[in-house]
Amino acid sequence: MQQAIAVLDSGVGGLTVVKEVMRQLPREKILYLGDTARTPYGPRPAEEVIRFTREIVDYLLQYQPKMIVIACNTATAVALQDIRSRVSIPVVGVINPGARAAIGRSKTGVIGVIGTEGTIKSGAYEHALRRLSPRLEVITKACPDFVPLVEDGNFRSEETYRVVSSALESIKQGAMDCLILGCTHYPFLAETISEVMGPEVGLISSAEETAREISTILHENNQLAGRDEVPIHQFFCSGDPRKFQEIAQSWLGEHIRLTPVVWRVPNIGA
Ligand code: DGL
Repeated sequence: MQQAIAVLDSGVGGLTVVKEVMRQLPREKILYLGDTARTPYGPRPAEEVIRFTREIVDYLLQYQPKMIVIACNTATAVALQDIRSRVSIPVVGVINPGARAAIGRSKTGVIGVIGTEGTIKSGAYEHALRRLSPRLEVITKACPDFVPLVEDGNFRSEETYRVVSSALESIKQGAMDCLILGCTHYPFLAETISEVMGPEVGLISSAEETAREISTILHENNQLAGRDEVPIHQFFCSGDPRKFQEIAQSWLGEHIRLTPVVWRVPNIGA
């Protein structure tokens, strides 16, 4: 049986990374778990996000994947090191790839980062960006209202425009030429975010760079799927399966096999 790449997120956001992995590595089998029963993770305390991430990883490990991808910035910010110390397979996060992509693109050296409260509060992007390029100016903003819009499938509406433009108003000035979408849900809102920020601000999603990192690690470990593999992906979600399936299929442009997951203690700490 083909060993899979296991990808996780609090909801549908990590599908933005999955889409890019499917494009760059079409032979790879993907296992995806969206914890939609407990989304959003952004406002939760770090200890709770770590606990949820451990539960998801334990669940996915039953399928003996060859790699774990934490396709959630909030969980990457607080749980990446913890998960790396607990498992023996490679664990990839999305923050370093996002930071690398932005540094490769910015000419002015002024980079914006939007993300959940948890991600912004952790300072993980500033840290990652400054480690690569110490003199950057980094402007950050938490946008807690974006994830619920995406989980509702409300990508392009008057309400979406109103929420996005009022959240981004305060960072819409100066020499910023790149805005990191520091939450994997935000690429679903990219058209609206771009409309609000204007054409001179490039939007950076970590998806492409994360998929490249996955490819490099699999290549180095001699674990890339064989040429003849025809992967059958498997998706899991802990909340409303109908809503998840609808968003996933329209985003990925293909039918998905979805299995609902019931946590033993549902919605702990909600
Ligand atoms: N998509 C996730 C992220 O990248 C989580 C958003 C949330 O659940 O608040 O941060």
